[in-house]
Amino acid sequence: MKVAIGCDHGGLNLKASVKELLNALGHEVEDFGCHTADSCDYPDIAVPVANAVVSGQVDRGILICGTGIGIGIAANKIKGVRAALCHDSFSAKYSRAHNDANILTMGERVIGPGLAKDIVTIWMATDFEGGRHERRVEKIKALEK
Ligand code: RB5
Repeated sequence: MKVAIGCDHGGLNLKASVKELLNALGHEVEDFGCHTADSCDYPDIAVPVANAVVSGQVDRGILICGTGIGIGIAANKIKGVRAALCHDSFSAKYSRAHNDANILTMGERVIGPGLAKDIVTIWMATDFEGGRHERRVEKIKALEK
């Protein structure tokens, strides 16, 4: 799959390990920054990643900041984005299976790289179940009209 990845300064180290994992899993990664530890503003990264996802330029996105919260709030302002903050593997699985989340967000200051690796592996491998969940996701999409 093609995956857009991005972070602010609070997620720089975790982005590097997630990128390595995605490459090892055989995914194609497009890195939207940031690339240094200098302080930056997470909406400036969230929006280009979100646009890459909703335009179909990539299949999915992964966004990382200190908490995973701000960058996810910003991404969810873009029409078509369903960004899910996941700090456990159960949420990661069901954000895909039931919510068809197209962006995963995590906080480097919240979880370690080992758990993040499990979360990303499960999130990337889980398909949307559709069925009754399709109807619910369609109702979310209707809210954007
Ligand atoms: C940056 O200090 C921090 O506020 C940011 O990474 C994130 O946690 C915001 O939600």
